[in-house]
Amino acid sequence: MTTKSIKLWLAFGALLSGVATQARPESVAEWNAQSIMARGQGNGLNATGHPSVSYEHGEFQWALRLLYERTGDKQYYDYMQKSVDNLVAPDGTIRNYNLQEYNIDHVRVGPTCLHLYKKTGLKKYKIAADTFRSQLETHPRNSEGQFWHKKIYPHQGWLDGIYMGDIFYADYAKVFQPRNNTAWSDIALQFKLQWEHTLQNATAPNSTQTLYHGYDNSGVAPWASADRGHSLEVWNRAVGWYAMALVDILDIFPKTHPGYAMILAQLRHLIPKLRDSADKKSGVWWLVMSQPGRAGNYFESSGAAMFIYASLKAVRLGHVKDRDGSIVKSMKKAYSYALKNWVFENPDGTMGWNNTVIVGSLVSSGDYPYYIAQPINMNDLKGAAAFVMASVEVEAL
Ligand SMILES: *[C@@H]1O[C@H](CO)[C@@H](O)[C@H](O)[C@H]1NC(C)=O
Ligand SMILES: *[C@@H]1O[C@H](CO)[C@@H](O)[C@H](O)[C@H]1NC(C)=O
Ligand SMILES: *[C@@H]1O[C@H](CO)[C@@H](O)[C@H](O)[C@H]1NC(C)=O
Ligand SMILES: *[C@@H]1O[C@H](CO)[C@@H](O)[C@H](O)[C@H]1NC(C)=O
Ligand SMILES: *[C@@H]1O[C@H](CO)[C@@H](O)[C@H](O)[C@H]1NC(C)=O
Repeated sequence: MTTKSIKLWLAFGALLSGVATQARPESVAEWNAQSIMARGQGNGLNATGHPSVSYEHGEFQWALRLLYERTGDKQYYDYMQKSVDNLVAPDGTIRNYNLQEYNIDHVRVGPTCLHLYKKTGLKKYKIAADTFRSQLETHPRNSEGQFWHKKIYPHQGWLDGIYMGDIFYADYAKVFQPRNNTAWSDIALQFKLQWEHTLQNATAPNSTQTLYHGYDNSGVAPWASADRGHSLEVWNRAVGWYAMALVDILDIFPKTHPGYAMILAQLRHLIPKLRDSADKKSGVWWLVMSQPGRAGNYFESSGAAMFIYASLKAVRLGHVKDRDGSIVKSMKKAYSYALKNWVFENPDGTMGWNNTVIVGSLVSSGDYPYYIAQPINMNDLKGAAAFVMASVEVEAL
């Protein structure tokens, strides 16, 4: 049978059995995205159906945008828009959003608001983007100028926060204030401080030469190192957020500003280290990258998806040279592992995604026992959305 006839046959079978599922798409990116949508995830509402500002939804919206750009299939754009419309009222109010929490995660929905404003010209999306932007204007900062991760986590800069806050900050500047050098320098400063405080030095034990999860330069946090205030361990998903932030912001940041070269240099350092820190046998990464193979450690799926996306995109755009092909090769190996071990098919034909850890936070001891004790989730959106992005890149190879 040809693929087309298989698809028809599957659709016919679904019709006969009364199952409302579509034929399984050939593209894993599409299969995954359609499965997430079928479960109603990332739709701007929380588990009890209330509008909810969620960085995971923002992440999935970004994945849908990439998928729409790749396929032209309107269902992805429509879901992305619906997700924001569930959250943003017709007058532009962001429902159930409290600016005073100063939670940088909230801002991650901002890029979708800007994108929809550019596409539709509808004022409500600009009003919502302006609101998120105003959070950054008064967001608390540490003594060197880094945004706190949240008001309740004083002085702490987390890798996660760079992805959550600074893509939006840059996107907003690009659309409304392209010549605002104060803003561009401030964004560059966020990357600079985060990097300098958390880069794992080459002589540290088990060094990956990637980045510790976060830092506290006030030295108050129990995990803060005496020298730079960095946390204790290298947590895969935090590095994943940062890697995605680096590669995505280069599409937005002005090449003429010195911050561009600095961000590019960080990306050029980090991507080969991701290749090198993958477990040699499986090709994927330990949850706690700084404790390879230690009892209780395991191969976690969201970080892997983020590394694959960031690395392949960095190579595709020529930001990172892959002269011997070893970066692409290692990312393909990791992707194969993911397909084999973390992707599964549900009885209704939708795709399931396994082994994403629910949380990793520095509101904790920040030590090894803490990270490995966090439960994993089935179909966790943080990992599944990243795997849509990873699949978009793999399918473009
Ligand atoms: C959903 O959001 C509403 C309104 O903010 C909140 O009261 C409720 O606790 C949330 N439910 C869940 C499951 O998070
Ligand atoms: C430029 O950016 C800074 C820092 O984000 C901001 O405070 C200021 O309002 C912006 N200025 C203009 C003219 O947009
Ligand atoms: C490198 O990191 C280790 C572990 O954090 C630390 O003990 C050591 O002082 C660091 N060395 C330098 C040169 O910063
Ligand atoms: C280095 O890795 C080994 C193996 O995972 C682990 O047992 C050890 O605790 C690590 N060392 C440090 C200082 O983190
Ligand atoms: C998901 O992963 C867990 C732990 O790795 C495993 O026990 C479980 O069988 C997996 N479930 C599926 C459906 O693959």
